[in-house]
Amino acid sequence: MIKRPKIAIVGAGGNVGAAVAQWAAQKELGELVLIDLKAGPAEGRALDLTQCGPWEGFNNKFTATDKPEAMAGADIVVMTAGVPRKPGQSREELIGINSGIVRDICANVKKYAPDAILIVVSNPLDAMVFVAKQVTGFPRERVIGSAGVLDSARFRTYISLATGASVEDIHAIVLGAHTDKDMVPITSTATIGGVPLAKFLSAEKLTEVVENTKKGGATLTGLIGTSAWLAPGAGTCLMVEAIVRDQGRVLPCSVELQGEFGVTGAFVGVPVKLTAKGAESVHEFDLSAAEKEAFAKSVAANTELMTIARGFLG
Ligand code: 2OP
Repeated sequence: MIKRPKIAIVGAGGNVGAAVAQWAAQKELGELVLIDLKAGPAEGRALDLTQCGPWEGFNNKFTATDKPEAMAGADIVVMTAGVPRKPGQSREELIGINSGIVRDICANVKKYAPDAILIVVSNPLDAMVFVAKQVTGFPRERVIGSAGVLDSARFRTYISLATGASVEDIHAIVLGAHTDKDMVPITSTATIGGVPLAKFLSAEKLTEVVENTKKGGATLTGLIGTSAWLAPGAGTCLMVEAIVRDQGRVLPCSVELQGEFGVTGAFVGVPVKLTAKGAESVHEFDLSAAEKEAFAKSVAANTELMTIARGFLG
């Protein structure tokens, strides 16, 4: 039998994990293994998704379990485990509780799926990518954080709402840390249909779009009562698809910087080419003076969080 890519989703009993599974099933990306600390929610998500198949026309068979060894041989492991933020809480406040969870699961990834590409979604995102990289010892190509795709989708959405232009024609990315205060929506290179964004929006309106983007996750957490899952799941699944289908998509992802943008050793969002190898390459370009300053602040904030996370590594 021809082998399908094996995609293990850890924390699949939760909303984000289940959303990744849903998009991956719809796109028929491979064999899906849903893992959760609690077997019941993983089984429930798998059964619920299987029951979508008759109408949605997919034939996925799901494995659902509380056993980490089920990730053995996985091509991709998606880490969504951890506690989501509550209204009024920052992602950074989750570092104490989520560092230990992510650390222990990453030890299992190293043990059972040593050749996998690991996509981290747990918060505080960039610090959790650092934990994953430290614990697994995988090369940077195989430890990739999912947040830039989500933040960029939010940026494009707010630009669309402000201009009335289609989200599909809006090219705009968000780099830096996945935190409300330090993410860096890049306005200098943003375009709509190839036309610079500044031609569509006044400086005042542009600032409003940038601020809405930065607090995009908090806005949803306030409205829903817990953090969002549909767009986080869709963005993460886009990364899984780019890898499984070797698409070479260039998307903002959080990886360890190895000299790019003048930074070494920090983990923040930068443009990455995603192929079957994972984060095959990081692509630098010139930021505006204001963006450079914001990016440097973002790196400094990540360095502080990494220092706290290091305390959980033992
Ligand atoms: C968000 O921004 C879950 O961090 C994620 O919605």
